[in-house]
Amino acid sequence: MAKNTLSFVCQNCGAAYNRWQGKCESCGEWNTLAEEDTSGSVPVSIRSKRKGRTFALESLAGKSPDAPRLSSGMTELDRVTGGGFVRGSVLLVGGDPGIGKSTLLTQATSLMARAGHRIVYISGEEAIAQVRLRAERLGLSDAPVQLAAETSVEDIVSTLSEGAVPRLIVIDSIQTMWTDTVESAPGTVTQVRASAQALIRFAKKTGAAIILVGHVTKDGQIAGPRVVEHMVDAVMSFEGEGSQQFRILRAVKNRFGPTDEIGVFEMTGLGLREVTNPSELFLSERDLGTPGTAVFAGIEGTRPVLVELQALVAPTSLGTPRRAVVGWDPSRLSMVLAVLEAHCGVKLSGHDVYLNVAGGLRIHEPAADLAAAAALVSSLVNAQLPTDAVYFGEISLSGVVRPVAQTPARLKEAAKLGFQRAMLPESARGETGGDAGLSLNAVNSLTTLVAEIAARGSRRGESNAPAEKNATPARFRRGEG
Ligand code: TYD
Ligand code: MG
Repeated sequence: MAKNTLSFVCQNCGAAYNRWQGKCESCGEWNTLAEEDTSGSVPVSIRSKRKGRTFALESLAGKSPDAPRLSSGMTELDRVTGGGFVRGSVLLVGGDPGIGKSTLLTQATSLMARAGHRIVYISGEEAIAQVRLRAERLGLSDAPVQLAAETSVEDIVSTLSEGAVPRLIVIDSIQTMWTDTVESAPGTVTQVRASAQALIRFAKKTGAAIILVGHVTKDGQIAGPRVVEHMVDAVMSFEGEGSQQFRILRAVKNRFGPTDEIGVFEMTGLGLREVTNPSELFLSERDLGTPGTAVFAGIEGTRPVLVELQALVAPTSLGTPRRAVVGWDPSRLSMVLAVLEAHCGVKLSGHDVYLNVAGGLRIHEPAADLAAAAALVSSLVNAQLPTDAVYFGEISLSGVVRPVAQTPARLKEAAKLGFQRAMLPESARGETGGDAGLSLNAVNSLTTLVAEIAARGSRRGESNAPAEKNATPARFRRGEG
């Protein structure tokens, strides 16, 4: 009797269970289990007892035929991939539907095709006419990209095996692909995995680079790209707030380049525009003169990025006050709040706390602690922070401000954008060589910072005039530029 190989597979992370259950214990998502045949990617009829073929073993030394990387023609995209697409590599671009993945790839493939490379774009989601319409809108109709609307992996592999090997193939999206070696429906974990496997095999064999597009879905209706993450060479995620025009491409995993590097784009009526100086963009709509905002001098990958942190601390009407954070780690916020309460006498248990990173950026660095604390206290005591100052430093549980990496790069960027002061950890002051072009205010502990901001609050109360009006860097004054 044939062994029963049906099992329940989480469509989000790929974990398999014998029985159905509401919650996946592996990734914690709800209602993501679906019944699938997991007998393997090859049906019994095809499995044979064939003798394995022999293959040649190679040495590490040796020359690759020609340039191993293909530049995309977009600086921001190349920055994230680590300098271009590597031959025979497979890259996954994940992101919410509608974020702009197809737009980005249409633009990049057109530029590469214009540069004379054979580029193939396979759309499994849109008809040829729709893809053409987008290209027309982007002014790229003349680019010699080879286009097809196909979903069968076998057909795609056979077609592409003929003629010159394409330099790059875009599969938009992997969730629409299916292979007849497995029986599950398209979009299920088994199908997505088997299709990805076949395409990866093709890439390794021919040396063509492949980009797989993967939609991230919350409801688990289709398999998440996470199931192929470990199979591919690089994973990028394309992020952004739907309501804002900024889009950030982030390297999550990269076998051929750095991770944590970001590329910044702006969605316009004519497609994605590269943003080469993100700080200027993130600070362009600063709400000057409002208490509760602080500028953080951060590092994203190899590049300094200045961004505004906005806090709102307001008396609560709830038994358990709300803590909401967008763009930063909620547990880091809890930690900063706990340190403020425990060491600085700042009582927040009766207040709702909201923290937002402006521009839709997501910050991962602990160096943002000091800026977040400054914004929170500033909002609580209703005192405006100096508008010409940047903040950075990690806060320890004892309330000490600890040094962070790359101080000179942060200061240089701040000086370039017209800031005049930096609030930074004491030990970081020595690193700068004293010629940063900014006045450096060392903050030893969070207590010092809180006392300073509170003093500003009371001073402001007496004079009743905004103290820092003239200290504002001219380019950020409201209503200008
Ligand atoms: P799309 O690339 O189709 O998203 P994805 O492939 O990630 O699902 O982008 C869709 C959105 O982008 C859509 O809401 C319209 C917007 N858009 C522009 O604003 N400008 C443009 O030039 C293009 C082509 C799209
Ligand atoms: Mg798309």
